[in-house]
Amino acid sequence: MATVQLNHVEKVFPDGTRAVADFSLDVRDGEFLVLVGPSGCGKSTILRMLAGLEEPTGGEIRIGGETVNHRPPQKRNVAMVFQQYALYPHKTVRQNLAFPLRMMKMAKAERNKRVARVAETLGLTPWLDRRPKHLSGGQRQRVAMGRAMVRNPAVFLLDEPLSNLDAKLRVQVRAEIAQLQRRLRTTTIYVTHDQVEAMTLGDRVAVLLDGRLQQIGGGRELYDAPANVFVAGFLGSPGMNIFHTRLHGGEGDTLELEFGEQRLAVPEEAAARFGRVDALLERPLLAGLRPEAFSPAEDGARENGVRVRVAASEALGYENLVYFESPAPVFGQPAAGGEEHAAARMVARLPAAGPPSATGDSVVLTVDARRLVLFDREGKALSAKD
Ligand SMILES: Nc1ncnc2c1ncn2[C@@H]1O[C@H](COP(=O)(O)OP(=O)(O)OP(=O)(O)O)[C@@H](O)[C@H]1O
Ligand SMILES: [Mg+2]
Repeated sequence: MATVQLNHVEKVFPDGTRAVADFSLDVRDGEFLVLVGPSGCGKSTILRMLAGLEEPTGGEIRIGGETVNHRPPQKRNVAMVFQQYALYPHKTVRQNLAFPLRMMKMAKAERNKRVARVAETLGLTPWLDRRPKHLSGGQRQRVAMGRAMVRNPAVFLLDEPLSNLDAKLRVQVRAEIAQLQRRLRTTTIYVTHDQVEAMTLGDRVAVLLDGRLQQIGGGRELYDAPANVFVAGFLGSPGMNIFHTRLHGGEGDTLELEFGEQRLAVPEEAAARFGRVDALLERPLLAGLRPEAFSPAEDGARENGVRVRVAASEALGYENLVYFESPAPVFGQPAAGGEEHAAARMVARLPAAGPPSATGDSVVLTVDARRLVLFDREGKALSAKD
């Protein structure tokens, strides 16, 4: 096992593309770190630099405490499962698994032992003599994993290993990978653009955009306290509702938040997170509310009830996603009433038990503002630490 460190790593390709910029990351020994971000943000480039397939154009990469910038792949003791992994079609599962060991010129007895052990770990023993063509997608994917594991690498690099699988299998193999990593405790860096995989797999999650690290932390931490509007919108499905707003002083020491024409009372526990609010009053800000911050208002007056018009709804069986016309200008969406665009929308995650809402319905929702997040106009989250 080994630690992995990237210090101010940069990658500019010969054509001038800056794929990775000033990227620093410390992965602990035995940690499962997930690197997540949209397509083209530099995830594969980072893994390829760790594997030794690309050289960084700046900064330093350390594995197990040693600088490896110029060290060839075979001298790094890392194993990578590629985004487009390919098994040898004419070799059996056993031969596919043994191949990396043959390349290392490992003695046959030891080779057989290793292959048997990895096959056992991954549940591949019954298929050792089959060719990949006669395996299911999930089994093939496990052979690709096995080929990386069989060398007992100090570091595992997995580049979207589940992208070839259908949705159901993905959930199953995802759970298997998590279990396996917990058992082996091999330092693992797992790349995905799927935020559900990111939230469920990693000890920590690093969010990347345009080659730059946006935030790193536990999944829950990133979900509850995103560092900026990108992380807020990226994690969660659907992402956080983000709208333009201002804070106003209410009665006594209370705070109120503009929600279009309406005002929401800001609970003390939320206000405490924003630091010195007096400096923020009346200034243009961005606010974020998760879809689950909304709930159906019960009969009778309730605090923070808002009346909204339903634009569309999706009944998912276990919950209803209700899209409604936003009372407040939504960040990054056209303003309501814009001629060529549909009105800006927000989304609420409501219990499936509730009555289904139809397009055009007017409904009253209660807003739980305890987990409200505020951002400055540049999109950086406000925090008491600033
Ligand atoms: N050899 C190359 N030459 C020039 N540009 C490259 C090269 N390889 C990658 N890039 C560019 O670098 C950026 C990052 O690419 P990378 O493959 O790391 O993205 P990614 O996050 O893995 O995306 P995806 O989720 O689609 O796999 C992209 O803009 C890509 O076009
Ligand atoms: Mg990639």
